[in-house]
Amino acid sequence: MAEEAILGYLQHTEEIKDSGEFAAERNIDHNEIVNVIKSLHGFRYVDAEDIKRETWVLTDEGKTYTATGSPEFQLFNAIPPEGIPKDELQKKLDPSVFKIGCAQAAKNKWVEMGKQLVTRKVQNVDDKVKGLLLQIQQGQGIGSDDIKALKARKLIVPQTWKGYSVRKGPNYAPKRKQVVTDLTRENFQSGEWKELEFKEYNYSAKGAPLEGGHLHPLLKVRAQLKQIFLCMGFEEMPTNNFVESSFWNFDALFQPQQHPARDSHDTFFLDAPSTTKRLPEDYVERVKQIHETGGYESRGYVYDWKREEANKNLLRTHTTAVSSRMLYQLAQKPFAPKKYFSIDRVFRNEAVDRTHLAEFHQIEGLVCDRGLTLCDLIGVLHDFFSHLGMTKLKFKPAYNPYTEPSMEIFSYHEGFKKWVEVGNSGMFRPEMLRPMGLPEDVQVIAWGLSLERPTMILYGIDNIRDLFGPKVDLGLIKKNSICRLGIN
Ligand code: PHE
Repeated sequence: MAEEAILGYLQHTEEIKDSGEFAAERNIDHNEIVNVIKSLHGFRYVDAEDIKRETWVLTDEGKTYTATGSPEFQLFNAIPPEGIPKDELQKKLDPSVFKIGCAQAAKNKWVEMGKQLVTRKVQNVDDKVKGLLLQIQQGQGIGSDDIKALKARKLIVPQTWKGYSVRKGPNYAPKRKQVVTDLTRENFQSGEWKELEFKEYNYSAKGAPLEGGHLHPLLKVRAQLKQIFLCMGFEEMPTNNFVESSFWNFDALFQPQQHPARDSHDTFFLDAPSTTKRLPEDYVERVKQIHETGGYESRGYVYDWKREEANKNLLRTHTTAVSSRMLYQLAQKPFAPKKYFSIDRVFRNEAVDRTHLAEFHQIEGLVCDRGLTLCDLIGVLHDFFSHLGMTKLKFKPAYNPYTEPSMEIFSYHEGFKKWVEVGNSGMFRPEMLRPMGLPEDVQVIAWGLSLERPTMILYGIDNIRDLFGPKVDLGLIKKNSICRLGIN
């Protein structure tokens, strides 16, 4: 109806001067008129120009008085011709009506506030305030003194009214043509297609958001890292066992049985099955030997090594458990150099905070060959980290029970303007490699880092609980960008 009214009116008249008046004359809601104008303007049927007006609207109090009459009017009417004691009059009226009514009626000289009685001073009064409020409500103008008075009594407040003036636009037609979006079989059969007008393609329209699966940032970064390792000629190790025996997780790595990391405070042990069923017995014997009495020029730890301790099942605390299994397997065949990597989940019984979770992911790489040195390790680390966009590296001596020498890896972060620790590395000890059966001149260089740390830096996430676990916002998973490791 609003659209017909506007287009029809413009057919014979040049301009709609004021959409507000236009709406009021036709008894159409102004909002509806405005919506139609905007739509017609979009298709250039009309040209529209903004108009603004300062108007007044009634406050809640003002609205009440349009129904009940002003307080002074109510008060006047509550006074009988013979007058009334003040306290009795007060009882007849609402407290605020009484208070305001007394003041205003006295000001208007409608009543006499005597000591004994309140009496009328005039016969009849006219409720001017109610009249003015009704006028405003109907959109009519009133005098500036009256505006001032009503505003002072907080019965009206200013409001900016927005509307349009409207003229014919370049595409004006008395009736909007329906543009079609599809050409159908029926259009052809009826011959209608000849007259049809088609909707133009909107090449800048945004597509509907794609619904479907979304990769978690950790998976995206993992995929990229996998690619880097593969490009460097590394093979992936099978990491599909979260449950590991203490033997492969600790003992094979020459980690003594009294080591604090083997405590239940740091490690999750399994209740069922609580122990492992099978270990390679001859190798277990050699591991026991190296712990207890040493060998291969090592003195060992000199303590009573207990098989029960090695049998205990746990959730692996590092992916180096996988590396130890793989190196043992490698040692069972004629020696061939290998480059291995893994990226998977590990578990530690740690207090959870903004940078630590009880489960996280490790990235691990190792190279196994004859005659490797610390220089080879440093070289491989430079190569690996440069693929991640980290070209400035520093190394700091460190300690791991299974590597000697060991180095912490630091990278200079251009954004943070400081050196940040990015990983741990070392050369596996002969005490670990020789009992496996690897030849004497074979060395293994290895390094490990968490997957969470680079992911958080790349995606600007500063609380690990926003990345992983039950508090993760699914919106983040849906919207995060692709991973561009090493490009930025
Ligand atoms: N396993 C070590 C860790 O959990 C990382 C590491 C791997 C260190 C290989 C040296 C060699 O932190």
